[in-house]
Amino acid sequence: MSKQRVWVSRPLFPEIVTKLEQYFVVVAETADQKRSTEQLKKALAGFDGALLGLNDRVDAAVLEGNNRLKAIANLGVGYNNLDIAAITRAGIIASNTPEVLNESVADYAWALLLVAARRVNSAERWLRAGQWHGMRFDDWLGVDLHGKTLGILGMGRIGQAIARRAQGFGMPVLYHNRHRLPESLEQSCGARYVDKPTLLRESDHLVLVLPFTSENRHAIGAAELALMKPRAVLVNIARGGIVDDAALASALRDGRLGAAGLDVFEGEPAVHADLLALENVVLSPHIASATEDTRRAMATLAADNLIAALGRGPQSGHPPTPINPEVLTR
Ligand code: DGY
Repeated sequence: MSKQRVWVSRPLFPEIVTKLEQYFVVVAETADQKRSTEQLKKALAGFDGALLGLNDRVDAAVLEGNNRLKAIANLGVGYNNLDIAAITRAGIIASNTPEVLNESVADYAWALLLVAARRVNSAERWLRAGQWHGMRFDDWLGVDLHGKTLGILGMGRIGQAIARRAQGFGMPVLYHNRHRLPESLEQSCGARYVDKPTLLRESDHLVLVLPFTSENRHAIGAAELALMKPRAVLVNIARGGIVDDAALASALRDGRLGAAGLDVFEGEPAVHADLLALENVVLSPHIASATEDTRRAMATLAADNLIAALGRGPQSGHPPTPINPEVLTR
């Protein structure tokens, strides 16, 4: 029987490619590239499996006429780049990389919150520009975190990891989520459930950790921003599009919101020009999970999913984290 063929859409750790090569003929791209529907459709032709990233948008048009593809391993916990209904209809097993990135992403949410609240980014730019001529008592005043109320919108595993860290800062935590957590979990996270308007009104700082779905598009827009405290810091480590970036920029510019820390953007890698023009926003290029250990763990899990979904390796037929497990029982 000839070996199955697997396509890796972007540069990956060499040892992960080697791992895949134990089972498959692997074609691994060496450059990161955003592909159009037609380009992706063409790239996937002739492969049994694919290890894809968040820039690869797979929908019915991409899959049309492809009868060979059986497994897609997405390199990320979020999978709004995949049309799961179309993938499931095509009988393809899709998987993602949950859990392994929780703690690193939670750390990074705090990094953005701290930098934005204490204006570290602007102060550093100012210092590097040679504008510091001696310590001034009233320079670079920021806002506190300790003792303030932290709000979390979206209370999955990452939200819970963020909440646990708040205990070290002496911050009470409010949260809102589609489903309320069991009481024991609320207690271990030190978090209290409230409705969304209360969350927006009462949080001194707010972190967004919800998945991107059509219902969550612009979950934070002008109306929601208007409810927030004028000195609040807003952090988005979830997905671009959850926040209306134009409305956010105008609230930040007009002093209706204190500051923001953003790792994700509507239409990224493009960043709204109004955000780029502001000092009270920290911008980073979608790196919340980007530590050496975590990215290796994500790549390993994606490879394990692909190997198992294609019926190979020790977990043959049982990918560890499938998104549409119903395909496995067909
Ligand atoms: C994810 O996993 O969804 C992150 O956004 C990418 O690291």
